[in-house]
Amino acid sequence: MPNLHNSIPVVGIVFGVLASIAVAPSLRADDSDRYGYGSPASAEQIAGWDIDVRPDGKGLPPGEGSVEDGEWLYEEKCALCHGSFGESVSGYPALAGGDGSLTDPRPKKTVGSYWRYTSTLWDYIHRAMPFTQPESLSDDEVYAITAYVLYLNDIVDYDFALTKDNLADVHLPNEDNFIPDQRPDTRNKRCMKRCKDPASVKVASEAAAYVPEGGPDALYSQVSGQEDGVVTTVTGGGVYERHCALCHAEGIGGAPMLGDSTAWAGRIEQGVETLYRHAIEGYTGEDGIMPPKGGFVNLADSEVNLAVDYIVEQSQ
Ligand code: HEC
Ligand code: HEC
Repeated sequence: MPNLHNSIPVVGIVFGVLASIAVAPSLRADDSDRYGYGSPASAEQIAGWDIDVRPDGKGLPPGEGSVEDGEWLYEEKCALCHGSFGESVSGYPALAGGDGSLTDPRPKKTVGSYWRYTSTLWDYIHRAMPFTQPESLSDDEVYAITAYVLYLNDIVDYDFALTKDNLADVHLPNEDNFIPDQRPDTRNKRCMKRCKDPASVKVASEAAAYVPEGGPDALYSQVSGQEDGVVTTVTGGGVYERHCALCHAEGIGGAPMLGDSTAWAGRIEQGVETLYRHAIEGYTGEDGIMPPKGGFVNLADSEVNLAVDYIVEQSQ
């Protein structure tokens, strides 16, 4: 099971932001006349900023570096802080190890255990390392050191050489465990018409990890008991978006897709009580495994039921 909290690609987002700054439209020649300040960025200046590399290798400069060359360079320029085997020295980040630790209470996130794309490693080293002299490495040196860090993680063999053309083919072990971010703040839609009067709105929030006194069901009755003027986040659609869509929106792992009436017809015939039970207790059928509550064991039974009602309503 992909682990939600460990799977948000923070590093990728950070670089995405940098990249978009780097390629922001430059002033055109006539703009500086119009606004009376600034001067057009030269092609050279733009090239200096436009150094991001994408997972498919786009943006990589020509070059090549072997694990063997990287070993020497790494020892000289990186081992001091990151350790000869990437194990980390005096609190600097470890670059290797931590395999299978992502679900531990204290996961060890490294290039090998956590990172998604090799391009991020190339980009990070090129952009930011060594810590005290960023952008001091030649492109070939970056290829070589990147190759060596991959080798330290048992991802490539010692006789491997990394190039512009094969970098996108080197896949990191955790690549497939990144999933779309389903948290509500990334998905909620703004109300644009026929909205409630803000003065009458009280937000009662729901936090998946928070279990109120009286168990999870107490939270539900607490918010559902208040009718008028109260906007609660506990709706079937809301629970579905946050906890079920990651499989049921795209059919991940064989999950019947929301709105696919053919896939749902036979299931709905079983009766809603059976669907509730299968969603709450989990269910293994011919198509795959529906984990209990979709894997979100902190959900109240009543919340799961609301999501089932929503799915049924959308999939008739
Ligand atoms: C003086 C100490 C130092 C040296 C030398 C150094 N680094 Fe770093 N490195 C750091 C620090 C500090 C960070 C964390 C920076 C941050 O989080 O902003 C880091 C982060 C990294 C990361 C990201 C780790 C992660 O999981 O977030 C990589 C990859 C990396 N360094 C590679 C290298 C390579 C390759 C070299 C040699 C070319 C190198 N570093 C040299 C201190 C150093
Ligand atoms: C990790 C993926 C995953 C998540 C998350 C998930 N489901 Fe499922 N669900 C499945 C799969 C796979 C099946 C199909 C199992 C089969 O029939 O082989 C399924 C089937 C179902 C069924 C039909 C059961 C039946 O008897 O045919 C219901 C109802 C359902 N899910 C509800 C939910 C609800 C509600 C949520 C969110 C709280 C949810 N699921 C989250 C994977 C998931």
